Amino acid sequence: MSILTETKMTAMNLVAPRADQFQASAAVTADERARLRISDETAADIEARERLLDAAFGPSRFAKSSERLRVGRAPARGLALSAHLDGELVGTIRLWHIASQSGHAALLLGPVAVSAAKQSLGIGGALIREALERARARGHKAVILVGDEPYYRRFGFERRHTLALDMPGPVDPARFLGLELEAGALDGASGLLRPTGPRGQRLRAARTARLARAA
Ligand SMILES: CC(C)(COP(=O)(O)OP(=O)(O)OC[C@H]1O[C@@H](n2cnc3c(N)ncnc32)[C@H](O)[C@@H]1OP(=O)(O)O)[C@@H](O)C(=O)NCCC(=O)NCCS
Repeated sequence: MSILTETKMTAMNLVAPRADQFQASAAVTADERARLRISDETAADIEARERLLDAAFGPSRFAKSSERLRVGRAPARGLALSAHLDGELVGTIRLWHIASQSGHAALLLGPVAVSAAKQSLGIGGALIREALERARARGHKAVILVGDEPYYRRFGFERRHTLALDMPGPVDPARFLGLELEAGALDGASGLLRPTGPRGQRLRAARTARLARAA
């Protein structure tokens, strides 16, 4: 990447993660930290992101209950991020607008994935912390996800926030977690979660093009 391009991307909300965003892992070196860039996802990331997600989750990723809250929707503004190391896409995260039957607004976090060769360097943690900070800065009050509690508890996600909530499909209760960005934001949250974000065609178009090429 040229210095000029990098300067432009900095103006487009690109950050080098701070040292404290890497606290999940001691494995990352100062050199790797300096080379990692977290930025708003762009159209140029889509194909590499799809490959990364296929490798991380396989075809079953489209059958997840969380996918029912994402399909046909666009991610929340400013909350689709990519991690690049030396220009290569190595991580992705997206958050989505949702609301509970009880009328509580929240964001759904996921998918988040890091390429297999770059896992346990702190990239996933840096992506999640950056996304949560950006969500808080944008005034979002709560985040919900389906994922491994032993991983997500380090970011503050807890089971207790989703006890009265339902996913639109099967979910392992032990993996159904919530985080309040504002204290009390999920108090009284109950019932079925539904998508509330803007309709979006971008991912569907990219997937259709990919399937057409594979056929
Ligand atoms: C989960 C994932 C995003 C984490 O990214 P990462 O860059 O490897 O994460 P970090 O480097 O920030 O953290 C690594 C630490 O988390 C731990 N960890 C990773 N996945 C974990 C899990 N599912 N459960 C518990 N701990 C986990 C690692 O063992 C490591 O622990 P250590 O710091 O004590 O060595 C990545 O492993 C991944 O893409 N996995 C495949 C896709 C996936 O499962 N996504 C999450 C869907 S819910």
